[in-house]
Amino acid sequence: MKMTNYFTGYSWLVTLSMFCLIASSQLTTDFYLSTCPNLLRIVRREVQNAIKFEMRIAASLIRLHFHDCFVNGCEASILLDGNDGEKFAFPNVNSARGFEVVDNIKTAVESACSGIVSCADILAVAARDSVVLSGGPSWTVVLGRRDGLVANQTGANNGLPSPFEPISNITAKFVAVGLNLTDVVALSGAHTIGQARCALFSNRLFNFSGKGVPDSTMETNMFSDLQKLCPPTDDGNKTAPLDRNSIDLFDNHYFKNLLNGKGLLSSDQILFSSDEALSTTKSFVQRYSDDSKLFFDDFVNSMIKMGNISPLTGSSGQIRKNCRVINS
Ligand code: HEM
Ligand SMILES: *[C@@H]1O[C@H](CO)[C@@H](O)[C@H](O)[C@H]1NC(C)=O
Ligand SMILES: *[C@@H]1O[C@H](CO)[C@@H](O)[C@H](O)[C@H]1NC(C)=O
Ligand SMILES: *[C@@H]1O[C@H](CO)[C@@H](O)[C@H](O)[C@H]1NC(C)=O
Ligand SMILES: *[C@@H]1O[C@H](CO)[C@@H](O)[C@H](O)[C@H]1NC(C)=O
Ligand SMILES: *[C@@H]1O[C@H](CO)[C@@H](O)[C@H](O)[C@H]1NC(C)=O
Repeated sequence: MKMTNYFTGYSWLVTLSMFCLIASSQLTTDFYLSTCPNLLRIVRREVQNAIKFEMRIAASLIRLHFHDCFVNGCEASILLDGNDGEKFAFPNVNSARGFEVVDNIKTAVESACSGIVSCADILAVAARDSVVLSGGPSWTVVLGRRDGLVANQTGANNGLPSPFEPISNITAKFVAVGLNLTDVVALSGAHTIGQARCALFSNRLFNFSGKGVPDSTMETNMFSDLQKLCPPTDDGNKTAPLDRNSIDLFDNHYFKNLLNGKGLLSSDQILFSSDEALSTTKSFVQRYSDDSKLFFDDFVNSMIKMGNISPLTGSSGQIRKNCRVINS
């Protein structure tokens, strides 16, 4: 009797520690080394092809990884189709783009190694490649994420930062996923490439229904250019570059712009110009504008941290066959 108890206790302990091992299993750099040895070459080639067709897609792919990781972790939930999915959450609808490119990458990867590589890992690698192919830094992407089974529209509406929020609210959303103030500023540097729609910054240009004054922190030439681009009668769908100095180049000019009042979104410019910035983000902006290597180093560190947000590993989730739907 006693023996059985001991034995039961022992095997329970073994099972428990094995479970812990799986549950805490880390992502690794060589996860697909034997199962999909050409993965990194395939993704790089497909991102390169997409960029040849449209340079902006690099920016769109980086943003997909970010919007994936902030909602239920990096598990490709943003890719799931459906009206109640994350695609139709406010921060994503008519905004998140690059889904067809992800489909193309997935198809190419599936034809080399079927049923092996997760859509979440594809997003992480495509984001890294997009940074590199835009002239930014490179890093080794850890792999082994699995794909989630649910999209979380409420999670996307609540968890993704809005360009109309103050620094404290944005920072709280980063802290909620294990990131900090350094990550807020370094990752905002992704706005060195890509575009934003008038609807997301025209509140800075006009005194809409007496709600607010035009934004005095914006540089005057940029201000009048954007007023012309975004008349209040328009539908707000035209776009302007987030970094008007070097539109498609991944560099630290985003931060130099902030020093000159040339941030596009309110959430960009407040990192330097707001009262709140004095005790929080301003010194980071100054250092990154001064020192491109420091920005690149911190950006890489923050991207790796972001890519590690609550991944599904072991036997959690699944490897989706089609990134848009869970396996039947
Ligand atoms: C700090 C809080 C952030 C806010 C409030 C914010 C907000 C926005 C907004 C409003 C847009 C334009 C969307 C549109 O026009 O439909 C945008 C674009 C973009 N964001 Fe952010 N963002 C933030 C952080 C980040 C982070 C952390 C990354 C990636 C690491 C990122 C990468 C991008 C990129 C690359 C684009 C351009 C996308 C394209 O051209 O398709 N952003 N962001
Ligand atoms: C969706 O995200 C919210 C956080 O905003 C979380 O509380 C909730 O558990 C998530 N739901 C699912 C089904 O993952
Ligand atoms: C900032 O967060 C607070 C508390 O969570 C909220 O009441 C407020 O509406 C937010 N501000 C903006 C501009 O989103
Ligand atoms: C944020 O975390 C990084 C480690 O990932 C650390 O080096 C940095 O000092 C932290 N920043 C702040 C403001 O605490
Ligand atoms: C903004 O509009 C409101 C009412 O339409 C007006 O009272 C206010 O003076 C305007 N502010 C500026 C700076 O034009
Ligand atoms: C912007 O364009 C999208 C289609 O890309 C459309 O669905 C949306 O209604 C447009 N926005 C406005 C305010 O017209």
